[in-house]
Amino acid sequence: CPVTAADRRPRAPRGAGPGRVTRLARMPTPSARPTRKAVIPVAGMGTRFLPATKAVPKELLPVVDRPALQYIVEEAARAALGEVLMVTGRNKAAIEDFFDRVPELETALEKKGDAARLEAVHASTEVAQVHFVRQGEARGLGHAVLQAAAFVGDEPFAVLLGDDIIDARDHLLEQMLQVQAEHGGSVVALLDVGRENIDKYGAVAVEPGGTDVVAITGLVEKPPVDEAPSSLAIIGRYVLAPEVFDVLRETAPGRGGEIQLTDALATLVERGEPVHGVVFSGRRYDTGDRLDYLKAVVQLASERDDLGPGFRAWLAEFVADLPAAGASEA
Ligand code: G1P
Repeated sequence: CPVTAADRRPRAPRGAGPGRVTRLARMPTPSARPTRKAVIPVAGMGTRFLPATKAVPKELLPVVDRPALQYIVEEAARAALGEVLMVTGRNKAAIEDFFDRVPELETALEKKGDAARLEAVHASTEVAQVHFVRQGEARGLGHAVLQAAAFVGDEPFAVLLGDDIIDARDHLLEQMLQVQAEHGGSVVALLDVGRENIDKYGAVAVEPGGTDVVAITGLVEKPPVDEAPSSLAIIGRYVLAPEVFDVLRETAPGRGGEIQLTDALATLVERGEPVHGVVFSGRRYDTGDRLDYLKAVVQLASERDDLGPGFRAWLAEFVADLPAAGASEA
């Protein structure tokens, strides 16, 4: 197989003294370490969807006919991140089953000649090479990401959170990978959620003058509205420098008593490491709570080639018949 420049590059010895690793790791030109791996934390309890999530992980709840998690893995694969690590927890065995082959099902579909469903079943397992690691204890997003250290090694990597589905026609992750290749360091996806909503997210301070790519000067996890540095929120996509692992190991529990990824990124900024934001203005479907989940299902179903025409026609009639907001039915 062809040897690339990255293959020939001497690697920083892993496990050497922390200072040495950090200094060596900063030296390569940013684009010398391509991002190839994605980490998807899936250990959350899904309490907002109880009782459904008593037995089904929230990541497997269907958004139209695919689990929310499949959209996320497909997004990673589209961005050429074919190696995916899921950080799981207890009661998440169904996720491993979902990404495994089911030979009996495939044989049954083959016998029936149901090529379309066979293809859909294949696509769900072949989209990426999926690996699993257990988080052990639920100690926050930063702690979940730290479980990926051995899998990731000494390369930048992406983190995709399952609550946000990004429309396949928008190329947020690809754009973030480009920004990382150009500037090095770490990159987060940002969305202007308005000041009134910023306390639900990681918030950032940015250098003035940027438009869709901004230099981040500070981060704070879920600040009170009147203390937020801006209305720009981190949404669930990150491309992180591997140096974040050393920082996470030393990050004390923060908001909610959890080890926060936002706090580790704030430390990287304080140390002068580049952290950029890509301000997203495309289509995002939030599946994080019940109302947003319903909206996501309706939006995505209405845009499907197969279901969309029939669904839109029905939806238009249904909406026309709805009583106006606030009015009670006679
Ligand atoms: C996490 C992060 C937060 C980020 C959010 C995006 O919070 O800690 O910084 O803004 O994801 O969805 P969570 O939603 O897990 O509370």
